[in-house]
Amino acid sequence: MFENVASVPPDPILGLSEAFKKDDRAEKMNLTIGVYQDDQGVTPILAAVQKAEKQLCETENSKGYLGIDGLPAFHQRARELTLGDLVSEDRVAVFQTPGGTGALRVAADFLGAAFGGSRVWLSTPTWPNHPAVFASAGIAVESYPYLAADGKSLDFQAMMDAIETGGKVGDVLLLHGCCHNPTGVDLTESQWEDLAELSAQRGMLPLIDFAYQGFGCGLDEDRAALKAISVQHEEFMICSSYSKNFGLYGERIGALIAVAPEASAKVNLQSNIKRAVRCNYSNPPKHGAAIVAAILDSAELRAEWEDELSQMRARIHSTRSDFVDAMKQRDCDVDFSFLLQQNGMFSFSGLTPMQVDWLKNERGVYIVGSGRINVAGISARNLDYFADAVLEATKI
Ligand code: LMR
Repeated sequence: MFENVASVPPDPILGLSEAFKKDDRAEKMNLTIGVYQDDQGVTPILAAVQKAEKQLCETENSKGYLGIDGLPAFHQRARELTLGDLVSEDRVAVFQTPGGTGALRVAADFLGAAFGGSRVWLSTPTWPNHPAVFASAGIAVESYPYLAADGKSLDFQAMMDAIETGGKVGDVLLLHGCCHNPTGVDLTESQWEDLAELSAQRGMLPLIDFAYQGFGCGLDEDRAALKAISVQHEEFMICSSYSKNFGLYGERIGALIAVAPEASAKVNLQSNIKRAVRCNYSNPPKHGAAIVAAILDSAELRAEWEDELSQMRARIHSTRSDFVDAMKQRDCDVDFSFLLQQNGMFSFSGLTPMQVDWLKNERGVYIVGSGRINVAGISARNLDYFADAVLEATKI
């Protein structure tokens, strides 16, 4: 049987990271996958995480299974971090999931099973794994425009028009809560309010992919979408990730947070989501959730974590402007200053697929085919190499 299995193309992000590892050139840069790196090119374990792990080593007394929905102490903290007091606690079901992708897949499995024939609306462009996750759960994929023709700014009117014309009752509307992946272009507060009003009018179910809380403008500032949606919608879902803001990539820790219109509806919702989890990975791994809960439970560790998160955010902001300055100094024909308006780990550079290929083949600089650059992979050590390579690429 296996001899006849046809090959499928490598993943557009993880596949490039694999290719990067195999590349034996001395000078190479991996600006593909969204993983934070410090000035030394290292993905650090945060000090707050190390302290929480030490505490756990000393106090943990069992490696027994968690419940299907995960660690209770984590539920409360995940809810507070995302929703705060926007929604009363008794309407909120939290499921600890293996990363943000796990949350998306559980949401998709639940929606596919509970509402046969549902459709999900994704932005164009979006994270390349979104369509596959929903298609795997049997959900039809529709798309709404996001960027203007210049590829640099949001075309809010086009986005609203598509949703107004195409959105139907029961359709799922996937939104990037902050730090839109791949563009880094976000809605303003008032645009979130207009969009939430429209999606509620259309009877759509918002599903907020919230993988970068704290990487845009701040933990609270990045909740603008949630604030607007919770005013207009009685029910919605959030897929959170703690990979980036806690640096817990390999621990695979995320959360699916489902808001029900009332406490009684939450019970049935939970039972259905439990079924989606049980027939997938049964129950989640414990360690990442225990770390997040320990940090958020302790005023001291929480303050330290928030400080480390602010430092990561600040480094990305300054790296982005260092790159823009470096291109100006080189008198590049392309004005990259639009990058300064983007939020989060990624910059949508506007480089064409041909330029992206050239950078990889000729300079060992790996960026995603869409032109998305992981800004956190640039540092004082490689900025000049990168800027020189991009300058050459813009001339081909
Ligand atoms: C990314 O977009 O690079 C991250 O979300 C990591 C991933 O799994 O693709």
